[in-house]
Amino acid sequence: AYPKRVKVVEVGPRDGLQNEKTLVPTPVKINLINMLSETGLQVIEATSFVSPKWVPQMADHTEVMQGINKFPGISYPVLTPNLRGFQAAVAAGAKEVSIFGAASELFTRKNINCSIEESLERFEEVMRAAREANIPVRGYVSCVLGCPYEGKISAAKVAEVSKKMYSMGCYEISLGDTIGVGTPGSMREMLAVVMKEVPVGALAVHCHDTYGQALANILVALQMGVSVVDASVAGLGGCPYAQGASGNVATEDLVYMLNGLGIHTGVDLQKLMDTGTFICNALNRKSNSKVSQASCRL
Ligand code: HMG
Ligand code: MG
Repeated sequence: AYPKRVKVVEVGPRDGLQNEKTLVPTPVKINLINMLSETGLQVIEATSFVSPKWVPQMADHTEVMQGINKFPGISYPVLTPNLRGFQAAVAAGAKEVSIFGAASELFTRKNINCSIEESLERFEEVMRAAREANIPVRGYVSCVLGCPYEGKISAAKVAEVSKKMYSMGCYEISLGDTIGVGTPGSMREMLAVVMKEVPVGALAVHCHDTYGQALANILVALQMGVSVVDASVAGLGGCPYAQGASGNVATEDLVYMLNGLGIHTGVDLQKLMDTGTFICNALNRKSNSKVSQASCRL
């Protein structure tokens, strides 16, 4: 049985634009987020409060947070790797943040320059400050179905890191197939193990489409009871510390599939497609959404 409704977490302005080679002008980012806010999405990840030396694409985080129209009922979480990022995010007006860990030692080192153990200590600091400020925290676990540096990752390791981040107080754990190597088989196996440690109602999936498996993997997750799915408009995205990672599943394609399954999202597909066209024109690139590429009118 599928869930009756799915919460779509739009990560394009962050996961998508963090990976663009050219810097996207701040007004374009603000426009993108404002257009996304009109589509019916409930969650739009806006930017990252990370080091500009590491990810120059997100250096305008404060201007973006202060420039967007914050619609009532929509959450605009931002990534915060450490206490410094958390404090800057709150000062810029963030009302929700995400911490991001991984089930791989080597990826953690490349991405946030520390061990898994050290990352969890940093996250504890963020959690403590967030609790005091009444700020909800989402937790990402990357490399849940494979790592660009370590290869295979055990489901037990994914479950261990997920459980630790959930126990710390994250209200939701987003399981990231960072390099899109998973298949419905490995997704099912991994989720079965993780669901023993974290309630399925607190799990999300975050699938990159590098191997063309994202929608299939999401379908399996839905069948297993997951009802929160990350996606990126026009399939923008990747990870600067995971070479060859392509974009997230395109939000348009996800919504098209969910519509076909009769699963409620609240998202207007046409408005979403118009937003995809806007950002692709601004970036002078072709959409990675199959639904947008299809010529027939819906
Ligand atoms: P570090 O170099 O180990 O940290 O970086 P540091 O404490 O030594 O600081 C180095 C410099 O950065 C210092 O500046 C700090 O002040 C500054 P300097 O003194 O040299 O001028 N700094 C900061 N500046 C702004 N904001 C901050 C901040 N913290 C320190 N918050 C650090 C450690 C975590 C900062 C760095 O590694 C970093 O920023 N990493 C971010 C990497 C990133 O954004 N990756 C992409 C997001 S993860 C992802 O895409 C996966 C996901 O989509 C899920 C999936 O697909 O699996 C979520
Ligand atoms: Mg990602």
